[in-house]
Amino acid sequence: MKRKLPGVILAGVLAVTLLAGCGSAVGTTATEGEKQVKEESGEIAKDETPTEDSGQEEPQGGGKIGVAMPTKDLQRWNQDGTNMEAELKEAGYEVDLQYASNDIATQVSQIENMINSGCELLVIASIDGDSLGTVLEMAKEKEIPVIAYDRLIMNSDAVSYYATFDNYMVGSKQGEYIKTQLNLDASDGPFNIELVTGDPGDNNARYFFGGAMDVLQPYIDSGKLVVKSGQTDFETVATANWASEASQARMDAIISANYADGTKLDAVLCSNDSTALGVVNSLEANYTGDWPIITGQDCDIANVKNMIDGKQAMSIFKDTRTLATKVVEMVDAIMQGSEAPVNDTTTYDNGTGVIPSYLCEPVFADKDNYVELLIDSGYYTEDQLK
Ligand code: BGC
Repeated sequence: MKRKLPGVILAGVLAVTLLAGCGSAVGTTATEGEKQVKEESGEIAKDETPTEDSGQEEPQGGGKIGVAMPTKDLQRWNQDGTNMEAELKEAGYEVDLQYASNDIATQVSQIENMINSGCELLVIASIDGDSLGTVLEMAKEKEIPVIAYDRLIMNSDAVSYYATFDNYMVGSKQGEYIKTQLNLDASDGPFNIELVTGDPGDNNARYFFGGAMDVLQPYIDSGKLVVKSGQTDFETVATANWASEASQARMDAIISANYADGTKLDAVLCSNDSTALGVVNSLEANYTGDWPIITGQDCDIANVKNMIDGKQAMSIFKDTRTLATKVVEMVDAIMQGSEAPVNDTTTYDNGTGVIPSYLCEPVFADKDNYVELLIDSGYYTEDQLK
């Protein structure tokens, strides 16, 4: 196995691979010897499946990959972990998959163990993007490349790559959905809206919120959208750990102070599904007016059921199978001494410089398209949504 130092990788990715969508997997079927010849001749290309010996099914990876996930509490991370483990194994790698119960110290010690037990590459979905600097120093010393998975790891120059869904686009799509559903350009309004975003330690949350607010802010400024609670800045509308209980408690207070007299709440921007669940619980207990438009993200089963029942208007669908496939493709490229495919080298500066990224495209799901997106694609069975 040939690996390059992160710095060398960074230099190498100046030749950015612009790829559409996110579904192309590398089916590495060349033998180790062939791989080496191709590496040396510079012939190995990121998206190229070697055609010779294409009937050969034997996995050709090798080495141990550490996969650190934040928590089992949320459906999506279970899917991410399961998909990553299965795909890495299929590609011939040994996998050390760990979940950290949303506890930063646990995640740090899991990563330390991965480094000390011979993992040759780390894929990390951080709990707190700012808390891994010290442990990743160890990774860097041992020349272990790091891929930040879904969430960017901040202020560490040990991060080689970042793979995620386009976080800003997630927020834009949520904002656009509210704009379209309330027909903001053509209606007089005013409409009442409340805002709920995610954990301040998760770098994604600022992108989600920023993307949505870039759409909604002009309508707030013009008075067409009114945030009756007055709570609009990121820190105030953030939700620690993305916890449903926290968003529920905050919404309870907002409803009793602003909507208990029958004032209509027209929309709640929720950055993801766990926060949306808390908001729905709160509204069911406290709110008697017409049901608002509620956004979400992840298409978790409970939320898709709420969508079918009309309790949540939309969710963003981020197909975790697609992200896993892309990350395994990146792992494979790095482990072979090549550069990983990226399609963005400008957006994600983690404080030490821009991290070359691969951004998958999110789409919105609602009552009208969920069957095609979620059932026909095999993501869920019909029974799971009953
Ligand atoms: C992910 C979301 C998820 C949230 C809470 C974010 O970093 O991008 O998909 O809903 O964390 O786990």
